[in-house]
Amino acid sequence: MKAFIVYDSAFGNTKAVAETVAGQLEGLDAAAVPVDDFDSGALAAGDLLVVGSPINGWRPTPKVTELLSGFGQDQLKGVKAAAFDTRLRMFIHGDAAKKITRALRAGGADIIAEPMPFYVGGTKGPLRTGEIDKAGNWAKALLTSLGR
Ligand SMILES: Cc1cc2nc3c(=O)[nH]c(=O)nc-3n(C[C@H](O)[C@H](O)[C@H](O)COP(=O)(O)O)c2cc1C
Repeated sequence: MKAFIVYDSAFGNTKAVAETVAGQLEGLDAAAVPVDDFDSGALAAGDLLVVGSPINGWRPTPKVTELLSGFGQDQLKGVKAAAFDTRLRMFIHGDAAKKITRALRAGGADIIAEPMPFYVGGTKGPLRTGEIDKAGNWAKALLTSLGR
């Protein structure tokens, strides 16, 4: 079973979360893959697809949105999936992970976890204290959802 942790990242924070998640998916053939390098043709039924994006203007980045809009209905049938975003701790921060989750579900994926936010201290980061540990724990929860 392969696991693709596909991410976009301007300043490295979403990348750090993606790499932590990939590193904690023990027993899976897992890799963190920049969205520019991801070939959705590599996905097979039974694989895990995790998509992560910074929130940019209340939504996922244009590159992540483009990836998601390229998934036809049922293209993700049989694929297990989950999403996360990185964001500021603000009164109104918008959302990316829920929107990504909705798009993955629309593509036919089997959603195995609630959308997960990770918090940065400023636009360029760093991730707030504890967020990398939270990413590791989230990866372990994904494994549990997969029955591993
Ligand atoms: C153009 C732009 C728009 C942003 N809009 C939001 C936003 O709507 N809500 C939010 O919480 N953070 C927003 N941010 C902050 C990003 O969430 C933050 O830069 C990101 O989490 C850093 O991740 P990265 O290092 O992977 O790029 C914005 C950042 C940029 C550069």
